[in-house]
Amino acid sequence: MKILVTGGTGYIGSHTVVELQQSGYEVVIVDNLANSYENVVDNIEKISGKRPLFECFDLTDESKTLDFFKRHNDLKGIIHFAAFKAVGESVEKPLMYYHNNLGSLINLLKGMEQSGVKNIVFSSSCTVYGQPDELPVTEQAPIKEAWSPYGHTKQISEKVIQNFSQTFPANAILLRYFNPIGAHESALIGELPIGVPNNLVPFITQTAIGKRRMLKVFGDDYNTPDGTAVRDYIHVVDLAKAHVVAVNRMIEGNNKQQVEIFNLGTGNGFSVLDVIKSFEKVSETKLNYEIVDRRPGDVEKVWADTKFANDELGWKAEKSLDDMMLSAWNWELALGK
Ligand code: NAD
Ligand code: WQD
Repeated sequence: MKILVTGGTGYIGSHTVVELQQSGYEVVIVDNLANSYENVVDNIEKISGKRPLFECFDLTDESKTLDFFKRHNDLKGIIHFAAFKAVGESVEKPLMYYHNNLGSLINLLKGMEQSGVKNIVFSSSCTVYGQPDELPVTEQAPIKEAWSPYGHTKQISEKVIQNFSQTFPANAILLRYFNPIGAHESALIGELPIGVPNNLVPFITQTAIGKRRMLKVFGDDYNTPDGTAVRDYIHVVDLAKAHVVAVNRMIEGNNKQQVEIFNLGTGNGFSVLDVIKSFEKVSETKLNYEIVDRRPGDVEKVWADTKFANDELGWKAEKSLDDMMLSAWNWELALGK
């Protein structure tokens, strides 16, 4: 059974390709390598023993996308990761974000319509909730006005898929990720931030290895136990496994609604200082950091209510914060070599 994974050489996509292959799926990756490298395909093969098909093109190119669907008319489903994801960059370059994230989704949906592919999993984000009024946040929480064009693209994409499903009998599962971190235990695939990382964990590991001088902790005056902001960090391999469950659910016809939405988190909130402490423990390294002002646009605290995903998908995140930080550190050490 063949699955199209867009953005499959990227961070979450590559881990998902491995899990799909290990569950018996054949995978075809489409990625334009805007934020990843072709050798990821080799590393996926080293882990799984199977080489995924790989096609390099831009999904905002409608004719190439529709031509792809003509040539691959046996797809059982699509997992759509391909998107730009840097929140700050999206504020600087809103048109680039709307064009890429919405254009590629629309072309894919046209491809589904043309070829009759019925199942799609979409990468959404907890960013759609903004700062929720109640914690843990459930899938029913109101969608808040997004702070960034990136956040808007996720909110609009969810709507586009919902509207599409009213005109075409497609099944969709929208997965709202909390904060994915860590890397595969083989240290052959992981996150590859280009330039200075925006996200906490790659900044921590790059500081510890000496690529950055010091981590800035953005704010210690939040209304949280230690004053630093709280997030629900989830191991990327746990996240990847949820995608296999979601695809299986639709292929086997076990979905209860045409469009379903699930939070993917652990249900635990950790502060920035908790993450630093865990890193220092597992790496046996002292991290150089200082407290600075809050980062504009950051929410104070957010963590997931995972009951719906746990009960309905029969999926649960298993790895601890220490597992996440150790795998992130091993990945950074492997990159250093
Ligand atoms: P990533 O940048 O590592 O992977 C995305 C991949 O998509 C890259 O390999 C990139 O080259 C490719 N791509 C982008 N635009 C493309 C296009 N037009 N055509 C073909 N390929 C294209 O990002 P990631 O962290 O793996 O994120 C995957 C998805 O999950 C994204 O949709 C992202 O918005 C979403 N998400 C990520 C996070 C996170 O913290 N990493 C959290 C929530 C949601
Ligand atoms: C985590 C915490 C920072 C860097 C982003 C996107 C979100 C989703 C996940 C895609 C925050 C603090 C960070 C640093 C720090 N992505 N921090 N120093 O902001 O929760 O979420 O990625 O959908 O949409 O916004 O993740 O890793 O940037 O930050 O103190 O150098 O670490 O303030 O509290 P965030 P993050």
